[in-house]
Amino acid sequence: MMVKDVFYVTTPIYYVNDEPHIGHAYTTILADVLARYARLFDRQTFYLTGTDEHGQKVRRAATLQGVSPLQQADEMVQRYLNTWDTLQISYDDFIRTTEERHIQVVQNVLQALWESGDIYLGEYRGWYCVPDERFWTEKDLVNGNCPDCGRQVEELGESNYFFRMSHYQSWLIDYIEDNPSFIQPSYRRNEVLGFLTKPLGDLCITRPVSRMDWGIRLPFDDNFVTYVWFDALLNYVTAAGYLSDPERFELQWSQAIHLIGKDILTTHCVYWPTMLKAAGLPQPKTIFAHGWWILSGTKMSKSIGNIVKPLDLINVYGVDPFRYFLIRDMTLGRDSEFSISRMANRYEKELANDLGNLLSRVLSMVETYFQGRIPGTGGYSNQDSQLKQGAERLLGSTQQLVTDFALNGAISEIMTYISGINVYLEQTSPWAIAKSGDYERVGTILYSALEALRLSSILLHPVMPEKTAALWGQLGWQPAKKLSDALSWGLLEPGAVVSKGAPLFPRIELS
Ligand code: MSP
Repeated sequence: MMVKDVFYVTTPIYYVNDEPHIGHAYTTILADVLARYARLFDRQTFYLTGTDEHGQKVRRAATLQGVSPLQQADEMVQRYLNTWDTLQISYDDFIRTTEERHIQVVQNVLQALWESGDIYLGEYRGWYCVPDERFWTEKDLVNGNCPDCGRQVEELGESNYFFRMSHYQSWLIDYIEDNPSFIQPSYRRNEVLGFLTKPLGDLCITRPVSRMDWGIRLPFDDNFVTYVWFDALLNYVTAAGYLSDPERFELQWSQAIHLIGKDILTTHCVYWPTMLKAAGLPQPKTIFAHGWWILSGTKMSKSIGNIVKPLDLINVYGVDPFRYFLIRDMTLGRDSEFSISRMANRYEKELANDLGNLLSRVLSMVETYFQGRIPGTGGYSNQDSQLKQGAERLLGSTQQLVTDFALNGAISEIMTYISGINVYLEQTSPWAIAKSGDYERVGTILYSALEALRLSSILLHPVMPEKTAALWGQLGWQPAKKLSDALSWGLLEPGAVVSKGAPLFPRIELS
């Protein structure tokens, strides 16, 4: 059996203490776009997302709502699922950490590490940040407060189990140095290596049930539940088939690409690799940290309250333009200020004018000159051949940019090509040629413009699945099952009936 090129992409699993906001939507759309490109380029694709349901944050939110943590989780999971449906998220698996399949994996790994001596019982004293659910050492604190969120910390001392993370520090440094694409972008890799110049402590991986009971019990001591991060990170192997499907796990796991926000770099690039190493499991292929969406200079976050809800924007602009904007406007890795006026400008200029008007303009000419049927072609002029070669080049460069995670670069090239189709029409002026009666030439130009539109819209399909499908409907074209088969020039059938419909990107009336 030929082993197919495997693409396994994950998002962080989101806490169910509150409903999804644009930050969560971003990572999820990003993973979706990458997964859709991978499917388009014929890779065997597996896209995982899900929810992180244990721990203090969720327990606290449930208490505030007067419900059990599981009821709280059930309700929020529904909201996540609804939002992902609305946003056209094509995940292959949605994992909840309260599921039995996951609990089994966590307990299995805990037991193995306990037996191998990588987990031991010790005394923990430290400064605990309740909202962030993590302990800090005295020297970590900033003005006596949590260095991450700036909030107050409490001093706690208690018996707990520890993971011997320190044991793996030098191995981890070597691993990161030997595998330059393991942590991306490179400045995040340097940040992690910088962090690792200081001695790494062991990781406290339990909470006593007497203080916090909402978690997975230790298989070897019922008085403790597992620290939420130790539990959550393992979701990635649970869903890849660890324990349940060894054959798939073997194929899939080492190809994993974890997309994360830069806020969870240490947990993913230090805790996680050492946990895997201790458990005797291979490392994922890449951990890619993106930046934050910023609103008025501050990270959008539930706790700060400056959040943009995806559904509010979708109601105005529609799902696809929202997806387009998020992917188009963030250079992967860097922070980006979220601006509604920039979103409106891109909608107007790039989507409504460059793409939407182009489509309706070409279709109007097909209606006027060819009774609404795709024309046949004569010989190609230089300009026609250049348009065709441009499409072929675009296919190659899109593939490369997507592999390099340069999605905004890929979209920018596709949109430049689409503006080029507008320029091509201006230069070839089919309306002027029609006056002279040379319909073969007019047909060749319109056919070329339509093919250029069809091909570039296939490359935009991962970003805007609904709008591009609507565009194909107007071209009178339906792709066969395998979209990659549609990526060559000349597949529009002369004689097929086009059906010019409502504008693809109607003008937005802002009230
Ligand atoms: N539950 C943990 C992750 C466990 S993964 C094993 C968690 N959850 S979270 O609900 O807080 O989501 C964090 C993720 O949401 C970030 O890493 C990032 O992917 C995304 N974002 C949250 N706010 C964001 C912005 N303002 N901008 C961009 N993405 C952000 O941490």
